[in-house]
Amino acid sequence: MPDTPAPSEGRRPARLVVLVSGTGSNLQALLDASADPAYGAVVVAVGADRSGIEGLARAERAGVPTFVHRVKDYADRAEWDAALTASCREHSPDLVVSAGFMKLAGAPFLAEYAGRYVNTHPALLPSFPGMHGAADALAYGVKVTGATLFVVDAGVDTGPIVDQVAVRVEDDDDVVSLHERIKVAERTMLVDNVGRMAREGFTISDRKVRFGDL
Ligand code: GAR
Repeated sequence: MPDTPAPSEGRRPARLVVLVSGTGSNLQALLDASADPAYGAVVVAVGADRSGIEGLARAERAGVPTFVHRVKDYADRAEWDAALTASCREHSPDLVVSAGFMKLAGAPFLAEYAGRYVNTHPALLPSFPGMHGAADALAYGVKVTGATLFVVDAGVDTGPIVDQVAVRVEDDDDVVSLHERIKVAERTMLVDNVGRMAREGFTISDRKVRFGDL
């Protein structure tokens, strides 16, 4: 993969569009972090694929504009993808962050945000990709799982890895307890890494994501 330019220029805060499908606790962590100007990034909009979710309510309470595109409101997936791409474009993001967004973006979206679209996943990729990372790891019986932040490519959870955090699986864990513990570690990892991407820039070469070049 060729070197990818850094997401922000100079000293202005990087503009983040965050995509959510549910509770939005990772979004909240980004909103909280970006209240400090030293963080170097601001959430300029929140997008969702469904209405009435806590993630959107969190954005509204923070005074951040929102947009919603439900797949079922479009003739096909391509039209939905075009609408999602257009709404993101209106907010000129340096980085798009998928934080519990349970949809795969299509080729036009990926082309527009190539190297600038990151996703957080509740497992240590490449193990347990897909919709049920925490449940699949628990069912497999692993002793250590965690969360992965990666740059999205055309595959399912296959993109270059920005960072990972490990979480031990306890004997008495169920999916809820394990996923909640993963999310505590995941939020810190997400905030730390998105901040570094914004402040330091990053490059991607031969699947290796490295900070720095701003
Ligand atoms: C997070 O654990 C995120 O990794 C996961 O959904 C949760 C959202 O929590 N995403 C996926 O599973 C994507 N495949 P939140 O809504 O509280 O931020």
